[in-house]
Amino acid sequence: MSKNPEAPIYHHPLQNFMAQKISLYSESGGVGKTTISVNLAAALTRRGYEVLAIDFTGQPSGLTSYFGKDDLYSNGAEENLYAGLMNEKTQLKSTIVHGSEFDFIPTNFMLSALGREENHQDRIFYLDRKLNKLLEDDEISYDFVLIDTPASFGYLADNAIIASDKILTPLEFSSRSTSTMQSVTESLDILQSIFKENNKQSRFRNLGIIPSMVRPHTKIFQQTLEELESHGYTFAPVSIKKLEIFKQAWAKNMSIFTFAENVNRTLNKNEQAMLDECYELADFVADDWTPDELFYAHI
Ligand SMILES: Nc1ncnc2c1ncn2[C@@H]1O[C@H](COP(=O)(O)OP(=O)(O)O)[C@@H](O)[C@H]1O
Ligand SMILES: [Mg+2]
Repeated sequence: MSKNPEAPIYHHPLQNFMAQKISLYSESGGVGKTTISVNLAAALTRRGYEVLAIDFTGQPSGLTSYFGKDDLYSNGAEENLYAGLMNEKTQLKSTIVHGSEFDFIPTNFMLSALGREENHQDRIFYLDRKLNKLLEDDEISYDFVLIDTPASFGYLADNAIIASDKILTPLEFSSRSTSTMQSVTESLDILQSIFKENNKQSRFRNLGIIPSMVRPHTKIFQQTLEELESHGYTFAPVSIKKLEIFKQAWAKNMSIFTFAENVNRTLNKNEQAMLDECYELADFVADDWTPDELFYAHI
């Protein structure tokens, strides 16, 4: 497989192949979910895939805010994500924003009302249903849907997971990491059992932990890594270092890739390596998706 970062690696040849849906999920705030969602979406886009990112946070600090679209968060108009889920007449398609790097669906303050509906089991399938309907649309051709989730348990996170094929968990290493992962695992187990109760096949799979905001040479990093490994947790083959470029890019509403192309300075070694790591994360996600027979049929 090509290692040229700019080379589109693979593009599926089948028209009605369903997009892979991936949630960036953790129950802690400020661990890099939004940052990784944006930069993974940008890396996949640069690999040649069609990407839709969904800001399912219901909070004014997710992907919508990253791209400077806070006005859409407080927009009470018909075509927002809440209406797209709750209102039979509003199509999710009408909520898509064609961003400068990739398409996304902004979040909306009304999403926090989602949990107030009656009928518990049904309401956690809202996103799944509407998203599948969107992806079946002949005019829609996404390869990946990335879902940025809120930093807490609840209906939004449950909706995101139920709608996903794969889960990636950004984790900032600390003395609480193991208990965070225990609670993430418990939540995922509960949702898997809801699939079973509804006689649906369990669909989502955990792709593992992405160490986030990493300072690799610190004692806490090494200790936490050993502890998590001893508990048998799996890891994506990439970790995201703590680097100022992530904040600088966010301040300009750009992925780190677009920021790197526009900034008036040479990137340092760590920053350059980070771009490669983000591509590697994209390749990991894409390799996991590409069925062997399709891949080999195409080369
Ligand atoms: N790898 C990183 N290095 C430096 N700062 C980061 C990194 N990842 C995230 N940040 C910063 O930390 C804050 C929280 O990140 P964010 O992506 O919003 O986390 P979450 O979505 O989990 O709440 C933001 O200010 C963001 O710019
Ligand atoms: Mg966030």
